[in-house]
Amino acid sequence: MDMQKFWDNFYRNNRCPYETPDSVMIEMVSGLKPGLAADLGAGEGNNSLWLARQGWRVTAVDFAPSAINRIIMAAYQNHLEIDTRIADITSYHLPRKQDLILLGYIHLEPADRKNVLVRASKSLRPGGMLLYLGITNVQEAQGETGDCRIFPGPDEIAADMQGLVIERAGENRRIVHYGEGETEMTGVTVAARKSL
Ligand SMILES: C[S@@+](CC[C@H](N)C(=O)[O-])C[C@H]1O[C@@H](n2cnc3c(N)ncnc32)[C@H](O)[C@@H]1O
Repeated sequence: MDMQKFWDNFYRNNRCPYETPDSVMIEMVSGLKPGLAADLGAGEGNNSLWLARQGWRVTAVDFAPSAINRIIMAAYQNHLEIDTRIADITSYHLPRKQDLILLGYIHLEPADRKNVLVRASKSLRPGGMLLYLGITNVQEAQGETGDCRIFPGPDEIAADMQGLVIERAGENRRIVHYGEGETEMTGVTVAARKSL
């Protein structure tokens, strides 16, 4: 399946099924001093918008033009500045080191996931945080693509955050909205920092 086309079509017709802004992101980020943040695979950008409201200078990256268009519109309507990029995060190079890099519900093939996590780890400033949010090992989730390898647990994610200090790696309950219905899934949160 061409995932870029899938997501571009998705954001033309749907809202994001995940909680946005994400409550775990808010919890993890609230104590940090706002600086440069990159939201990789930003979707319709509710997390980016929340961060921008808190004073973060956000770069939102997504390969779906429809998603990026939503972010541009929402930022304009809310008088917020967000730098947007239509790009594939498996090859996009962040031009500046970041204080926060967010990967929210980006379920990639293992090799791509490792590539993105390793590159993101290298793109942090000292003291910067890499925050991964996802879902794991759930039958409903596997139904999305039929491939459970793209829904790893916290240990697999933490192992790919090379050179960072893991601050949190665990599972939690998540509600995901599909159309009118909602499903309970197992969420994964991994937060790691680059040493000062
Ligand atoms: C489930 S949505 C999550 C959006 C947002 N991060 C959130 O938490 O609500 C997945 C997003 O990742 C984007 N995405 C998936 N793979 C990508 C890739 N390789 N490069 C850029 N964006 C990607 C999709 O276009 C989609 O917007």
